[in-house]
Amino acid sequence: MTQLSYFSRPADGTTLVEINEILGVARVRNREASITGFMLYRHDCFVQVLEGGREQVSRLLERIMADDRHREINLVGCEDVERRTFSNWSMGFLSMREVSRRKLLEYSDTGDLDLARLDHGSLVELMAELAELAESSLPDSE
Ligand SMILES: Cc1cc2nc3c(=O)[nH]c(=O)nc-3n(C[C@H](O)[C@H](O)[C@H](O)COP(=O)(O)O)c2cc1C
Repeated sequence: MTQLSYFSRPADGTTLVEINEILGVARVRNREASITGFMLYRHDCFVQVLEGGREQVSRLLERIMADDRHREINLVGCEDVERRTFSNWSMGFLSMREVSRRKLLEYSDTGDLDLARLDHGSLVELMAELAELAESSLPDSE
């Protein structure tokens, strides 16, 4: 099993409506390919973790990298894992606006978290915590 993380910049003018469309397609396609993961969105940044078979994740990454709804795609990390972190999520999602300042302070001194500076392990840890918060309020549709 492979777990991969990247961050990118939304294309200019990307709206929450478009992000919802991305998520709708992503959840269907990911279920078909046994891919799970989580995505964080802030006005200036997407951060996404993808997990699944190496081939499936690679094929998905190719599609994502060719998607012009974002740019400056930066791979943060990729590693073999025994177990999924986001097994309940075909693609979980949280907007940073829903993340409390207190939670962010655990990951940065100022609370002004620069997501692009986190390493793969810290990103996965942060997103796993956020997924738990999200689980109670925004369950993934089964
Ligand atoms: C930030 C971002 C994240 C995405 N995440 C996924 C994903 O997890 N799964 C997925 O199938 N498509 C995802 N997409 C959409 C793909 O780029 C692509 O549009 C979609 O898979 C449909 O591909 P197709 O038109 O070649 O069939 C994402 C797009 C963006 C911009």
